[in-house]
This record gives sequence, structure tokens and C-alpha cells, in this order.
Amino acid sequence: MARKTDWKIPLFKIYWDEEDIRMVTDAIRRGMFWASGPNVEKLEARLADYIGTKYAVTFNSGTSALHAALLAYGIGKGDEVIVPSFTFISTANASLFVGARPVFADIEEQTFGLDPEDVVNKITPKTKAILPIHYGGCPCLINELKQVAERHNLLLIEDAAESLGAAIDGKKAGGYSDCGILSFCANKVITTGEGGAVVTNSADIFEKLKLIRSHGRAETANYFSSTEHMEYVTLGYNFRMSDITAALGIAQLNKIDKIIEIRQKNAAKMSQKLSGILGIEIPHQPENCRHVYQMYAIRVKQGQERRDALLARLAKKGIMAKVYFHPVHLTHFYQNTLKYNCSLPVTDKVSGQILTLPMYPSLTEDEICYITDEVAAFFNGE
Ligand SMILES: Cc1ncc(COP(=O)(O)O)c(C=O)c1O
Repeated sequence: MARKTDWKIPLFKIYWDEEDIRMVTDAIRRGMFWASGPNVEKLEARLADYIGTKYAVTFNSGTSALHAALLAYGIGKGDEVIVPSFTFISTANASLFVGARPVFADIEEQTFGLDPEDVVNKITPKTKAILPIHYGGCPCLINELKQVAERHNLLLIEDAAESLGAAIDGKKAGGYSDCGILSFCANKVITTGEGGAVVTNSADIFEKLKLIRSHGRAETANYFSSTEHMEYVTLGYNFRMSDITAALGIAQLNKIDKIIEIRQKNAAKMSQKLSGILGIEIPHQPENCRHVYQMYAIRVKQGQERRDALLARLAKKGIMAKVYFHPVHLTHFYQNTLKYNCSLPVTDKVSGQILTLPMYPSLTEDEICYITDEVAAFFNGE
């Protein structure tokens, strides 16, 4: 497939402004605290406040946040975690990191999130947690999944990597469950290049996450500016976000609602222009939900061959489209090395039809027309 750096319209562009530069510059100019520092704590307080949880702990990626969350809950060998296969691979890999087994459940077609009914089918005596995602910024059926988790006495860990700011009836994704995971990777709604966080209401998990993040060290002060002896009380990692990164995170979080508003306007324009094309389905906007359009994903009804032809056509025209996601259970690693063999009919169908089109705040009216005209021309056989 096309490997270009000069797309006329890339899949995403980062929204940044002078405040981002100023915050990072200030952190650099301080000449101190480039590792742990005041911006880390400030960003954590701001994230918890934004989502409505008591605590937030930053990490150097969403993947390490997932890893740390499973460790903090003591999930390990012999345990099973129910995950979607229609996701980024680290949602599933996190269970493998801790010695547990990811068990794939199918998705439903309304939100492309985990199907609560199939989740129930996949529960065994070994199941410890349900780990759904909110696909592309669209809230999944999290209330229903929460009921399943409560009924079966399971943990609910929300992978909200793609959905910071998404909400149902005003309650934000990440805040529904025992803990929520965020990612600030470059293609997310706000970004620090790389970065992540866990949000939770549990003081116990908050303390455990801080230990896991930083070598298992019981930090009573800033390690780098204190002569105090600090004990290493458990096995830990270096999963820390740097203070320079956190400075950028604060500046990005300051404008998140503006960013989401522009994304929603662009998505609405795109949907309006694509809605007459019979060969595709435009993204659903479930009732009472705030969809943040981290991705704008259409479905090509005729399936994989036609979808791949559209992708190739768009690439030829300089428009970057991409398949998010090829199912995890069909990757070489899961099929050939781990010997997974599952039946996930809705996942298989949707992943054969899905195509993510460019979506970012600075997408212009002309660019939207260029994309939608090309999609229309493809289906008109032009
Ligand atoms: C659903 C989902 N989970 C986890 C991740 C991992 O986040 P990161 O890339 O920050 O490690 C991503 C992002 O790529 C994601 O989309």
C-alpha cells in the first residue's frame, strides 16, 4: 500500500498553537525538573478534573498505562480478560504483558464497541476483567457493560485511548469504570507526541500505579531533588511521562473542547456530503452521546475488495485513508504464534468494510469537498 510522506490530505494533522510552544519552552528554560516536575502533577490534576475522577496518573504511553493498570489490579497468570479484537493491538497485548490471556468478544454494529451479550458468552471462572474500547471517539455501550461487570463481579477497565472528551449524558469516557486509560499519541484528540494516563477513583490503585510507574519506589518527594532515602517496595518500571511532555499536555488540554467542537463540525460536513452515497454507511452518532471523532470511519457496504479499491483510489489522489482496525485475532502473532482461532462474525464483517478518512481540526471546506467528491466519483464509476 502507498507509503508516502507528501499526502495532499494526510489522515490526521496535529492542532497546536503558540501556547504549546510557550509551555514547552518554559519547561526547558527552567533548566531543572525535565523528568519528574510540577507540570506532571498539574496535568494529572487537570485530567482527573476533566474526566470527573478523583485521581489521574500520567504514563509515557497509553500502552504502558494499560500494562500498569492490569498490574495494579493484580491481573496475572491464569486470569482471562475479555477484550475486543476490533481495536489497536495493545488493548489485547496488555493481558499478555502480565501473563493473563486476552479473550476476544465480538462487537455490536451501533458503536463498534464490545457487544455486552457476547461478553456474557465469553465469561468463564477465570475471567477477571472486561476491557472495552470507545472506538474512534464514539462511546461504546459502557452502561450495559458495567451492568454485566457488576452482575458477574468483574473489573471493568475502560480503554479510552481514542476518546478523551467523549461522553454519554455528559459523563465522560474513562470515568465509568474501575479505571480508564488514555493515550496522547500523535493521532489522538489531544497529543503530546507520545503519552498516556490512567484515571481512577480508587486511592489504592492510584498509589499502586505510582509505584509501578517509577521502579516500585515509594516516592515521598521528587526523587531527583531530594536526598531522602526512598525504599523500593515492589517491582516497577520506568513508565514516567517527562515534565516537558506534561507541559505540552496541559497546553493541549486547555483547548480540548475547542478541538472537539471543530472536529464535530468537520465530521458533520463530511457526513452531510457523503450521506447520499448508497455504497457506504457514514458514522453513527448514538443518542445522548458526545462523539469526538478521533477517527471518521465509513463502512463500504460491498465489503473488503471494494473497500480496498476505494482506499487505493484515494491514495492515488493524494488522500490518505486507512483501515482501523484489522482484527487482532487475525494478526500473524495471534494466529500463528499464539494459535488463536476464534469466531467473531461482526468483527470480521466490520473490519472488512471499515475505512477511516482524514479527520482533523484544520481540515478545510475545500479539502472536505475534495475527499467527498472522490468518494462519490468512485461509487459513480467515474
Ligand atoms: C484503543 C487503543 N488502545 C491503546 C492504544 C495505545 O496507546 P499508545 O499508542 O499511546 O501506546 C491506542 C493507540 O494507539 C488505541 O487506539
